[in-house]
Amino acid sequence: MVAVKPTGHKRIGVLTSGGDCAGLNAILRAVVLRAVGHYGWQVVGIRNGTAGLLARPVEAQTLELGLDLFDGSLLRRGGTILGTTNKGNPFDYPLPDGSRVNRAGEVIEGYRELDLDALIGIGGDGSQAILRRLAQEGGIDLVTVPKTIDNDLGHTELSIGYSTAVKVATDALDQLQPTAASHSRVMVLEVMGRDAGHIAIAAGIAGGADVILIPEIPYTVTGIAAKLEQIRQGGRNFALVVVAEAVKTEEGELVKQTQASGAQTYGGVGHYLAARIAEETGAETRVTVLGHLQRGGMPTDRDRLMASIFGVHAVDLIAEGKFDRMVAWSGRQVVDIPIAEAIAGYKAVDLDGPLVHTARGLGTYLGEFSP
Ligand code: F6P
Repeated sequence: MVAVKPTGHKRIGVLTSGGDCAGLNAILRAVVLRAVGHYGWQVVGIRNGTAGLLARPVEAQTLELGLDLFDGSLLRRGGTILGTTNKGNPFDYPLPDGSRVNRAGEVIEGYRELDLDALIGIGGDGSQAILRRLAQEGGIDLVTVPKTIDNDLGHTELSIGYSTAVKVATDALDQLQPTAASHSRVMVLEVMGRDAGHIAIAAGIAGGADVILIPEIPYTVTGIAAKLEQIRQGGRNFALVVVAEAVKTEEGELVKQTQASGAQTYGGVGHYLAARIAEETGAETRVTVLGHLQRGGMPTDRDRLMASIFGVHAVDLIAEGKFDRMVAWSGRQVVDIPIAEAIAGYKAVDLDGPLVHTARGLGTYLGEFSP
């Protein structure tokens, strides 16, 4: 039996969806402080993204998020206290026998059973597309918050998790540089980012990489070798190479791993590249694949700040009755845009943007540019 809600009172849901990243808990904290602390609403955390809304009884998949939850540590903690999933699209849900079914109706029913007035969905482009479709089919008042270490969502300069991922990758370069110098080696650091090179180029510049390879720009191993030769002739005995996980081999192949679930994930191009560089130059190479270290750990000040700004704004949008919108950061302001625009506006590294200009200005080998 659902209690009658006082006028003006709201009961809102929040979930984290897709791959995790640092800063998700900081968003949850901001949502609760604003919704409960300021507006006096109730906040219901839904476990494991849309998977929580599929389980029955659905209440068992929820967690009342009250002010008592905050002992001061949540802002700083990596991961998500709600759990998340990047599998099991309810519109194309995999069954054990390999067939696929549409379970969207069950998710919507689960949401209704919770008697929520609105939902805040924290996710990247894939999760937001699913949540928006559910919202449209189920009449759910939805607001989204962008998170992805890949920073590839359109119309927002920043997504939560990106800053921390860049810091982790930059720290890795800081730690690789002395050992590279001690052993006269070429160190190859493979970073995440899915199909975009945002992490690679930002960390590569900040960490002083000599070569930065991103999926957006083609390269040749002879071009890399020429850069390494230039470094050698300049009297330096080591080099740092950053490669984004979706950079292809010279033959144009993506390097992927098949997981136990059958899912294909990026990973391994660093090893390919190190072998090719060694072959071409005779240099001693070593590889570090940074992997999920980029998603964990304590969020940076930047991620905590943006998470706080986004969380408060998302709740304010609900208070104003503005739905189907994603909070975003643009021109030093928090803004909100239609979710559909954010999903459609996939953001690759801008080849005419300041990071490409800067890397080239520093003499970094970034790939082959047509004249
Ligand atoms: O989208 C975030 C991301 O970390 C990508 O950078 C990476 O390719 C992928 O997720 C890894 O996914 P999983 O956690 O399923 O291995």
